[in-house]
Amino acid sequence: MIRRPPRSTQSRSSAASDVYKRQVACNIYLLRFFYFMSKAHFGLIGLGVMGENLVLNAERNGFSSVVFNRTYSKTEEFLEGRGLGKNIEGAKTLQEFVNKLERPRRILMMVKAGSATDAVIDNISEYLEEGDLLIDGGNSQFKDTERRVETLESKSFGYIGMGVSGGAKGALEGPSMMPGGTKASYDAIESLLTKMAAKVEDGPCVAYVGPGGSGHFVKTVHNGIEYGIEQILAEAYDLMKRVKNMNGSQMSEVFGIWNNTDELASYLVEITEICLNTKDESTEEFVVEKILDKAGQKGTGLWTVVSALELGVSVPTIYASLNARVMSSLKEQRSEIEKTIPMEAIEDFDLGDISNGMKPLFDAVVLATIASYAQGMDILSEASSVYNYGLNMPSIAQIWKGGCIIRSKLLRKIQDAYQKDPNLKNLIFDDWFNNEISTRIDNLASVVSSSTKAGIPVPCLSSTLDYLNSYRTNRLPQNLVQAMRDCFGSHTYERVDKEGSFHTEWMK
Ligand code: 6PG
Repeated sequence: MIRRPPRSTQSRSSAASDVYKRQVACNIYLLRFFYFMSKAHFGLIGLGVMGENLVLNAERNGFSSVVFNRTYSKTEEFLEGRGLGKNIEGAKTLQEFVNKLERPRRILMMVKAGSATDAVIDNISEYLEEGDLLIDGGNSQFKDTERRVETLESKSFGYIGMGVSGGAKGALEGPSMMPGGTKASYDAIESLLTKMAAKVEDGPCVAYVGPGGSGHFVKTVHNGIEYGIEQILAEAYDLMKRVKNMNGSQMSEVFGIWNNTDELASYLVEITEICLNTKDESTEEFVVEKILDKAGQKGTGLWTVVSALELGVSVPTIYASLNARVMSSLKEQRSEIEKTIPMEAIEDFDLGDISNGMKPLFDAVVLATIASYAQGMDILSEASSVYNYGLNMPSIAQIWKGGCIIRSKLLRKIQDAYQKDPNLKNLIFDDWFNNEISTRIDNLASVVSSSTKAGIPVPCLSSTLDYLNSYRTNRLPQNLVQAMRDCFGSHTYERVDKEGSFHTEWMK
């Protein structure tokens, strides 16, 4: 309580006045102190598994938090369960949520991509103040993010579109994060993200990606590569099972061997080893064999392929993986046609010695995996110049080296390649990758040709072979395509022997 000196003595006693001023200053300081102490550092909207784990990660790293979920019962459940005893409080309304946060506010949204994200932005915007920052950690379409960054930044709020990878475990223990937006907005959350991110031997798996929707663009391409590698491993499994009649444990053993190599050591190979060796508790059979062969998809693989085509980048391995999911969804049609055009019994062919890691198959999988990364990196380089993202390719490899679904030893080689030559046209031009391709392409070709002869679809392996063969062919037959275009539509063509644009009267 501050006691104001009586008016009569105030003018006479400057000492009393000084005491009064000091008391006021001290009280203001205390008020400010308690005000900031009671406000949380970080806010999270959306208590799905990813949201829960990310807020627990932030809190573990010293950021007191407030959470908001559309249904308050979910918030209560969290606070009484996993959030119990943590420096995390809940809010019933967005207004209460915003009021509980220190300024400038840092708010992570983990809600469904699309209209749900727009709705949250609209609803919360009325409570935000200048400098407050919204982070979208969902798998948003990068063009939506471009629009949101522009709108929100024009209202003096910050907006970061951030790809987050690593699934539920990654979110809790350390995800790989791809934040894009203005550099100033990123700087405001750098320390938070750096603490939360996965770490590898040479640093954290987060860095400023670039402006606008670049963070979500990079995450989309990450997922395109993820689709590719998942399908490649599924094709390898299919060959082991159908050609060699291997059981789950035997197949798992081979993936275990692969996971100990410099070329294939990766998270996806590691979980394939686990998936193949896991038995169903009720039937004691391998669970994988009980799963319906229809793959789901949420859109990022499709966006990757569409973006690649828009940018004019060749991505046959990634496209094949997307198409394989589409074909897999035609279950009823496939069952019917299998009866009308039956396959011959599969004749055994050489896939290599199991105890030695099935060398020919290993080589095929290595090259298709390299192709998946190479095509993804190509999309990024092209997008970097066309969309003015200014992407730092070695830094993206760094972000992906830990925490994310496509983390692998190969990413170190990819990082080295782009460090050596930041303008690398394709990984195939790097000496190490060039040598990998030269020494393994014969085995890829023999696996693809034997599989094709046996009637086993290997879309990613075969498109990789076509991709590499096209890359190493100086003269492709598109001269004839040009002739046809000119013949029916006078589209003109260029010549190999002189400069200029030419037309022939083909129907003379
Ligand atoms: C990740 C994953 C994650 C999610 C994919 C799945 O990096 O953690 O990519 O984001 O698993 O979106 O995508 P599909 O359902 O399309 O396979």
